[in-house]
Amino acid sequence: MTRTDGHLLDNRQTEAAERFDAFAALFDPTTFRHLQALGVGPGWRCWEVGAGGTSVVSWLAKRVGPTGRVLATDIDTSRVAPAGRPPVEVRVHDVGAEEPPGEGFDLVHARLVLVHVPDHERAMRSMIKALRPGGRLLVEDADPALQPLLCPDEHGPEQQLANRLRHGFRQLLARRGADLSCGRRLPRLLRETGLRRVEADAYFPVTSPACAALESATVRQVRDQLVAAGVATHDDIDRHLTHVASGSMDLATAPMISAWGRKA
Ligand SMILES: C[S@@+](CC[C@H](N)C(=O)[O-])C[C@H]1O[C@@H](n2cnc3c(N)ncnc32)[C@H](O)[C@@H]1O
Repeated sequence: MTRTDGHLLDNRQTEAAERFDAFAALFDPTTFRHLQALGVGPGWRCWEVGAGGTSVVSWLAKRVGPTGRVLATDIDTSRVAPAGRPPVEVRVHDVGAEEPPGEGFDLVHARLVLVHVPDHERAMRSMIKALRPGGRLLVEDADPALQPLLCPDEHGPEQQLANRLRHGFRQLLARRGADLSCGRRLPRLLRETGLRRVEADAYFPVTSPACAALESATVRQVRDQLVAAGVATHDDIDRHLTHVASGSMDLATAPMISAWGRKA
């Protein structure tokens, strides 16, 4: 069920479910708007890459109906496994290291995945290879380097602590090979890999309860690594979690860039 040994954000940890719920609350409306505009409908064959949780897969399953197919892959399928009934099939697969798990797809979608894949050009080639001629690719990824702050309005010590922890977390991700300016490169990557009619846009919430839920779950999930790396003490982290829980801070995310195009 998993190939994630040593992964910083292990899907099997309880906080992962909270993070996937927060991603759904924050980004599903944007994702569904794009998928709808691409025409996803009855009978479509879709590959959901790095599926994480169930929300996107379940939405796709409803749209494609019983005559369609949704293949949901991840290096760790623990959280998406409950969605695995027709038309959904769940499979363990590493998009950066393996051949595509099928071909002739009408749609391939990956959200917040490529940033974690060291060889994302290979991943992109693999996703495009899996498409039928005329098939659509939608890739959505964060660009933390475009907007690196958790609190863009850094007006007091709580916000300064929040931004210091966020900076340390990003350093941990970068040390593990995450590409923190991946989002902005997506349109060029799509064009250079041969897609036509490439377009892109960006979305990021500036404050929302789901941002606070995401921050709390993420910090609890990586707290030991943050302390081990000297980014913060347990006391810093406890204070930060208390500030986040108070609901009085405006917490943002990195922008999510959505880029789409079609195979010639
Ligand atoms: C930040 S989560 C995003 C989950 C989901 N796509 C969403 O937007 O809610 C990243 C997901 O990508 C998966 N992942 C990371 N590297 C991967 C790889 N090389 N191949 C497939 N999945 C990968 C992780 O296991 C995790 O489920």
